[in-house]
Amino acid sequence: MVMTLKDIGMNHGQQYEVILTSKNNDGSQNAAPFGTIVKGTNQIVNHIFQGSTTLNNILKNKEFMVNITSNPIYFTLAIINNIPSEYYVNKDSLILKDVDAYFKASVDNTKNFIKKDDPIKPVESTYICSNVSDITKNKSDVVAINRGIHCIIESLVNYSRVDKVKGEKLDYFLGRFNENSRVINKVGSKQDKEAMKMIKKSLKNKGYEI
Ligand SMILES: Cc1cc2nc3c(=O)[nH]c(=O)nc-3n(C[C@H](O)[C@H](O)[C@H](O)COP(=O)(O)O)c2cc1C
Repeated sequence: MVMTLKDIGMNHGQQYEVILTSKNNDGSQNAAPFGTIVKGTNQIVNHIFQGSTTLNNILKNKEFMVNITSNPIYFTLAIINNIPSEYYVNKDSLILKDVDAYFKASVDNTKNFIKKDDPIKPVESTYICSNVSDITKNKSDVVAINRGIHCIIESLVNYSRVDKVKGEKLDYFLGRFNENSRVINKVGSKQDKEAMKMIKKSLKNKGYEI
């Protein structure tokens, strides 16, 4: 039976943080983390800021690899520089070693747009819709990262401290709540949104303005 995104823990309508790998012009490997939204049974969408190497590679090659992992080192290496070649299964592959799962994405259609809801400024981006194939699971319990639960945990840690701080520190904590709430609105599950609603209600009951 052909595997679907659901079989690797990726549910319809949700966004997951994954590592996209693509080939550069000289054949070398490029890796970077990107939010990836499940659009259909085996279809994904990415919104990528223009200027990114990944975007240029995807538009040129019409395909890329999606690596599902919770390994913080991979995310960090990919952002601060690039993931060195020895972390791939071999020098020609786009598959990272020991990831939970991976699949191939083949571009179906693309569209340029201005991302207006960016927290910093409106930014020129490209919408990429891709078909998924060759899903491979390296583990039975694949974890595709969604930011929602992390935002809830951070909010609850702040919640448990909020009564102990005043002034600038309090403003900082309340600002963090608002930021976590923004992220949850964007990428959280139904349960994450429900949990955030409970946290906000309780904070308001305590007299905090958020
Ligand atoms: C968890 C995470 C998710 C990200 N998601 C996106 C995204 O969805 N779209 C985007 O344009 N940049 C996103 N970024 C930023 C890119 O990864 C970053 O700009 C990267 O340096 C691009 O690398 P590249 O030039 O090799 O493609 C994300 C970063 C992180 C850490």
